[in-house]
Amino acid sequence: MADWYLLAKQGGPLQGEISLGGAKNAVLVIMASLVLTRGTSRLKNVPASSDVLHMIDLLRSLGAHVSFDAKQNVLDVDTTFVNKWRVSPDIMRKMRASILVMGPLLVRFSKAEIALPGGCVIGSRPIDYHLKNFAKIGVTIAERGAYLNVHTKQLCARELVLDYPSVGATENLMMAAACTPGITTIINAALEPEVLDLIEVLKKMGAAIRILPPAVIEITGVSELRPIEHDVVVDRLEAGVLLLAAAITGGSVSLPAARADHLDLFLLKLEEMGHKIIVGDNKRGVTLAATDAPKAVSFKTAPYPGFPTDLQAPMMALQCIAQGKSVVEETVFENRLLHVRELQKMGAQIDLHGHQATITGVDELYGAQVIATDIRASSALVLAGLVAKGSTVMTGVQHWLRGYERLEHKLSRMGADIELRQGDWRHIKTYQQDSLSSSL
Ligand code: UD1
Repeated sequence: MADWYLLAKQGGPLQGEISLGGAKNAVLVIMASLVLTRGTSRLKNVPASSDVLHMIDLLRSLGAHVSFDAKQNVLDVDTTFVNKWRVSPDIMRKMRASILVMGPLLVRFSKAEIALPGGCVIGSRPIDYHLKNFAKIGVTIAERGAYLNVHTKQLCARELVLDYPSVGATENLMMAAACTPGITTIINAALEPEVLDLIEVLKKMGAAIRILPPAVIEITGVSELRPIEHDVVVDRLEAGVLLLAAAITGGSVSLPAARADHLDLFLLKLEEMGHKIIVGDNKRGVTLAATDAPKAVSFKTAPYPGFPTDLQAPMMALQCIAQGKSVVEETVFENRLLHVRELQKMGAQIDLHGHQATITGVDELYGAQVIATDIRASSALVLAGLVAKGSTVMTGVQHWLRGYERLEHKLSRMGADIELRQGDWRHIKTYQQDSLSSSL
């Protein structure tokens, strides 16, 4: 995506009622799970983000027939003719979530060849929890060149204990166990709303799955799974960014489809900042009216129901212009604070010590040329750009497009001056370059 950039200009309070798309993190794994079935499934509320398009490429490369109506957000996948079990390095490079087809391919073919994922900017992101537990259920794993070759004579049901409640490992193992004779238990499982949406899908397919408090998933293997129709759960992370956009600009927003029960701690922190939050009946629908004197709040990321790591970066953008000091600690990923350097370029006062950032709120941010290094960093920089003096140019736009479907349009509808553009951005004067040239 060379030469694509987002241009954001300082504007007034954002306002509006906005609809939400389906959760990217739910739909990717649900698409992978379709390999467990033979026939045509229909998914609705599928966001047209580039990761979804990459997963479509992956499914096609395995032999699935896929048609996607991006306007209606409806995806039809026919898995009858899936006849390959290899994920190429090219597909894996575009999207690490490709690893999620390993479980379904093992069920379908008793083997898979998956390109090694390698490191990524937000940390090394190993897949050892996946592999260690696949080995426990009877999978032989070998590294051959650029590929991981896995095969099994027979998957076997076991009690599995995760070192950490990894979302991807929970999902991959659960899909593998769905058709494995006997009872598999996953102890210390991840229970993020996206994992729960996958469970709902697997149950519709005919799987027998129970959640046992506090964090155990019990799967009783069945012999066959059938195609399904499913409405993907709304994206709590998109909801989070829209609420933050209203909050940082001193505006208001109403999200009738938002699931407040998926955002509890995040909403509490917004309230602690002084913003008014109204939640609808049965925790459906969230409205935010911003305070004009936001107080800084501290938070620490953790697996669900803790503060979502995917909202850490955008929430940090708010702390940069809140009153007082806040401490933000990232505990889920080892290197997910790369946006700090970019926010500093915009005038934010942030001290970074390892996984912890101490932010002292300032009165103003300044437009600058910034680079998004991952999906969530991109939303932090866009939010900062909405209030920073002058213009902000954000490159690294491919991350924004991977995670969010036309979110810049939704922000525009709320009154933001933001545009996705292609061309040479180097000539655009950000606030900082403007003040530099006038001081010369
Ligand atoms: C998923 C989400 C991502 C979110 C994350 C945590 C998708 C497509 N992505 O990523 O947006 O930020 O959950 O909520 O759903 N780890 C290991 N070994 C493993 C697996 C994970 O050490 O085998 C580590 C990771 O490096 C990370 C932590 O465990 O530090 C959590 O990772 P995990 O929950 O697995 O995240 P993903 O499934 O990759």
